Amino acid sequence: ARKIIIDTDPGQDDAVAILLALASPEVEVVGLTAVAGNVPLALTEKNTRIVCELAGRPDVKVFAGCDRPLRQTLVTAEHVHGKTGLDGPVLPDPAMALQDQHAVEFIIETLRAEPEGTVTLCPLGPLTNIATAFQRAPDIMAKVQEIVLMGGAYFEVGNITPAAEFNIFVDPEAAQIVFSSGCPLVVMPLDVTHKALITAPRVQAFRDLGTRPGTMVAEWTDFFERFDKEKYGSAGAPLHDPCVIAYLINPALFTGRFVNVEIETTSKLTRGMTVADWWGVTDRDRNAMFMGDLEAEGFFALLTDRIGQL
Ligand code: BDR
Ligand code: CA
Repeated sequence: ARKIIIDTDPGQDDAVAILLALASPEVEVVGLTAVAGNVPLALTEKNTRIVCELAGRPDVKVFAGCDRPLRQTLVTAEHVHGKTGLDGPVLPDPAMALQDQHAVEFIIETLRAEPEGTVTLCPLGPLTNIATAFQRAPDIMAKVQEIVLMGGAYFEVGNITPAAEFNIFVDPEAAQIVFSSGCPLVVMPLDVTHKALITAPRVQAFRDLGTRPGTMVAEWTDFFERFDKEKYGSAGAPLHDPCVIAYLINPALFTGRFVNVEIETTSKLTRGMTVADWWGVTDRDRNAMFMGDLEAEGFFALLTDRIGQL
C-alpha cells in the first residue's frame, strides 16, 4: 500500500475523504495532520479524531499543526460547514487522544525516516503545515513521493473571492512555497470537484448502505447539499476533498494537463488565485498536473462501495 499523510481541516468533505482512505487497502494512512482552515484548529483536530473513531480506527495517529496562516489572519468557512465544521449529524466527542507531537514535526520526522519517494502528502486544506515543514526542513522536499492536493481553480475561478479558491486563499504564501517546491504535484481544482456533485440519489445511496458511516456520510452531504442548492441552485454540492484520495486509488477517473501553475500573492483583487498556464502561452517551467475532468459515475461508485466496507 502507498504510504500517505493526510493534512486536513474537517469539513464534511474532508471527513468523507478520510473515511475513503481508511476504507481503502491501496493506501496506508501513516498519520493525519490537522490544520486551521474551515474552522479553527481546536475544532479541526477534534473533528479529525471524530472521523477516525467513526471509521473504527482510534489507532490512527492524529496531530495538531498550525493554528494560523504564515502571514495573514485566519479566514474560516462556517458559512459552508457550520459552526463545528462538521454540522449535520450530532456525533459524540472523541475518546482517542491527540498526539503530543506537533504536526509539522511529525511530517518532517516521517519524511526523514522513510526511504526516499515512498511517502505521499495529501493536503485537503490550507497549505500552512506543509509549507512550514518545507521551510523548517528543506531536505524533506526531495523525499516526497508526490503531493496530491485539493485547491485552486482554472475555468471555475473562485468560491471564496471571485478569483480564489478557499484552500489557496487562506494561505497564499504557503501555497506558493508548495507549488515552487519541485515536488511532483497533482492538483484537484474546482474544475474537477464541481463535477463531483452529491445529488439526492447519491446521498440516498450512502443512506441505503444501512451502516453508521453510511448514514453519517448521507447526513453530512445532505447538510452540504442544502447549503449548495440554496446558494447555487445546482443538482448537489461538490464533494471536493475525496477527489484527492480517489485519485490515489484510481487515477484513470481523472484527466488533466501538466502545466505551469503560479500563485498570486500580491494583487488585492486576485490574491490566492492559481494562475494555470493551460494553453502553454508562457515558457515557465511546468510544475503541476492540473486536473480538469472527472468521471463522476465511477467516482461515486468507488466512494459508495468503499464507505460500505467500513
Ligand atoms: C475546499 O475548501 C473547504 O471548504 C473544503 O473542505 C475544500 O477543501 C474547497 O474550496
Ligand atoms: Ca478541506
